[in-house]
Amino acid sequence: MDQILQSFSVNFNYKVVFTEQIFSNENAVLSGLLISSSSRSKLLFVIDKGVLDHHPSLERQIRQKWNGIKNIELIQDFIITDGGEAVKNSTVLFDQIIQSIDTHTIDRHSYIVAIGGGAVLDVVGYAAAVAHRGIRHIRIPSTVLAQNDSGVGVKNGINYKGKKNFLGTFAPPFAVINDSHFLTTLSDRHWRSGIAEAIKVSLIKDAEFFNWLELNATALNNRDLDAMKQLIRRCAELHLQHIAGGDPFEKGSSRPLDFGHWSAHKLEQLSGFDILHGEAVAIGMALDTMYSTLSGKLPEQDCKRILSLLRTLGFSVTHPLLSNASAKVLEGLNEFREHLGGELTIMLLNTIGKGEEVHEMKEELILQSASKLAAHGK
Ligand SMILES: NC(=O)c1ccc[n+]([C@@H]2O[C@H](COP(=O)([O-])OP(=O)(O)OC[C@H]3O[C@@H](n4cnc5c(N)ncnc54)[C@H](O)[C@@H]3O)[C@@H](O)[C@H]2O)c1
Ligand SMILES: [Zn+2]
Repeated sequence: MDQILQSFSVNFNYKVVFTEQIFSNENAVLSGLLISSSSRSKLLFVIDKGVLDHHPSLERQIRQKWNGIKNIELIQDFIITDGGEAVKNSTVLFDQIIQSIDTHTIDRHSYIVAIGGGAVLDVVGYAAAVAHRGIRHIRIPSTVLAQNDSGVGVKNGINYKGKKNFLGTFAPPFAVINDSHFLTTLSDRHWRSGIAEAIKVSLIKDAEFFNWLELNATALNNRDLDAMKQLIRRCAELHLQHIAGGDPFEKGSSRPLDFGHWSAHKLEQLSGFDILHGEAVAIGMALDTMYSTLSGKLPEQDCKRILSLLRTLGFSVTHPLLSNASAKVLEGLNEFREHLGGELTIMLLNTIGKGEEVHEMKEELILQSASKLAAHGK
């Protein structure tokens, strides 16, 4: 046998910066991140309209800040896009970004800067990753979920053939800038929705963080920005540690960070995305928490605490789709297996702060868990 073994590794690193009012005159975070080079770098902005609607001076601030800066060419045609899941359900935004990259000859020394919720960031990240085999991408996440989870990681994607995130890549961003000021204009639902991901990481990795969430539930309900900033900081940190911890591009079949997600993805889809991602994750976590207890893994007391925290924070722990379309929800397990590519691996809980992976879930016990949650109501 004649063979050549090719082997190399690439070291990725990127900063996740926490700041406020990124485009104010005094804030130098973004300019500090750009690589100074002798040639001119282009900056192409893609902005979620949901952000612009609430921060109408944003466009003007960006132009003021970046026009006339040495070695930077601000592309004057900002791409302004609707936000939300709809942008991932079609290729309209993706095509628009590719078109703009072509028109403005955006190359690998340029930057695509995206400001928005997780959905917009996912599409921009995907377009940036595949155009010219990868253009530097800076994310400025504007929702809780995007700042503590989706925007700080290495994944992107769009929904295709009715399947969530069917097309996408693993592509670390050039940098991430979390600006807490954007959070002040979120709807209550979107403010709450992102908290689900923090509960998720606390449950599988950090019992202390879970205690902190319990203690700060009222402050979070009252939209206390300081409490939210702390939540985001810790949640993002745990996510980043996990990504750096061995399998950043999810080659194995284990995806511990997807606790509660197998049914959540299905619920989002079956509801036509009426249920927000975090809301679906809350229901999915309640289901897998109940399952963990019914299958004898998780003490009942822990189950009570988890359901109680979810309810205190205003999450529903059940949904009519779980009982009315349970067969369809169960398909979520198969899709999850497919997405992982082979063996089913599901994270369940042993205790608060510690998960355990299993390779099988019993349908009967899932249905029993769902009806127990339904019997308790919301
Ligand atoms: N790539 C990943 O690793 C990953 C992980 C988790 C979730 N996700 C994806 O993230 C998406 C959900 O993201 P999301 O929860 O950020 O919601 P979203 O992107 O759907 O945005 C929610 C809504 O809020 C608006 N909005 C955004 N910022 C705002 C602000 N500052 N003020 C007022 N309105 C604002 C948007 O226009 C939109 O209407 C899903 O598509 C999910 O699949 C991706
Ligand atoms: Zn999630």
